[in-house]
Amino acid sequence: MKDDSALQALWLPLDSGRIALPTDAPGVFLNARAPLAPRWRARACVQAFRPDFDALVRMGVDARPADDELAAGSQSLVLLLAPRARAWSRAQLARAAMLCAADGQVVACAANDEGAKSMEADFMRLFGSGTVLSKHKCRVVWASPQTVDYALMEEWLRAAEPRQRSDGLWTQTGVFSADAVDPASALLMMHLPADLSGNVADFGAGNGVLSRHVVRHCQQARQVDLYEADHRALQLARCNLDDANTDTRFHWHDIAAGVQERFDAVVMNPPFHLTGKRGIPELGQRFIDVAADALHSRGQLWMVANSHLPYEGVLARRFARVDDVAKHAGFKVLRAAEPRR
Ligand SMILES: C[S@@+](CC[C@H](N)C(=O)[O-])C[C@H]1O[C@@H](n2cnc3c(N)ncnc32)[C@H](O)[C@@H]1O
Repeated sequence: MKDDSALQALWLPLDSGRIALPTDAPGVFLNARAPLAPRWRARACVQAFRPDFDALVRMGVDARPADDELAAGSQSLVLLLAPRARAWSRAQLARAAMLCAADGQVVACAANDEGAKSMEADFMRLFGSGTVLSKHKCRVVWASPQTVDYALMEEWLRAAEPRQRSDGLWTQTGVFSADAVDPASALLMMHLPADLSGNVADFGAGNGVLSRHVVRHCQQARQVDLYEADHRALQLARCNLDDANTDTRFHWHDIAAGVQERFDAVVMNPPFHLTGKRGIPELGQRFIDVAADALHSRGQLWMVANSHLPYEGVLARRFARVDDVAKHAGFKVLRAAEPRR
């Protein structure tokens, strides 16, 4: 497991006794990640990303994908690992302030290379003041919500609500390609054949843009299964496909864990981890492996990727036939057929 310095830094004010962990009073950890200190395990954790959620559940934690069942002002302590996307981080700070009791504390942390400076500035704006600790290349900030700017809190919460874009798609800040269709996905849609048929799967479905294309253009598609790890994106996908004439099924699922179902076609714009400007391809390669396992013998995989990502090796290992369909603006569309077991 990679070193999670933000998670380590977050505990520092509690470990040093600068903040007391209330024994009986409720607390919640937003955007929580494992491993969790044993003293937090009996408390609520919120995590919308399925692989991180699964890791929490494996530790016996009371994890949930969203915090909407928690009442305003109900928590004595709210911990937050602030996400990198600024507007989503602001919304999470606002949510933390809202959930926290007037005499409670909010503790937020971000790594320096994931926007710690902006998070600290946003925290100070919202809470009026706060105590700051810099450690492990992270910043931890905490305060009680007594001097929260409620107008700003409402503004940041509103800015992160789901909204419908001018292209008709529902979106939300912090989900993949929130402001416009991703150019790679657009290229894949230009090349997807209209005769995809039977059961089609969309791996890493995001807000459902590829599935929406399939249900609109592929008349012989009988059923479309959307697999997505981000719970919020999957909720958007439900809205984006609610008028589909084809059967649709939505799975909040980590593709890396494999899938049980079998398909006639898989479409995907697989995720990859970013370090600097380069992508790490292992996750996308795993998506290809899972697609090969999930396809019937006459099934086909349609995918798009950044041209430099090395997917050809695993494609050649797992499929007898691989075609370069298109290359454009730094992306490649690939079709693979005849999966090997
Ligand atoms: C490149 S985006 C494509 C999204 C959407 N299909 C589109 O074309 O706009 C990749 C998607 O994979 C999701 N994802 C990342 N890791 C995943 C995993 N382990 N299992 C399932 N989905 C995952 C991300 O949340 C993201 O929505």
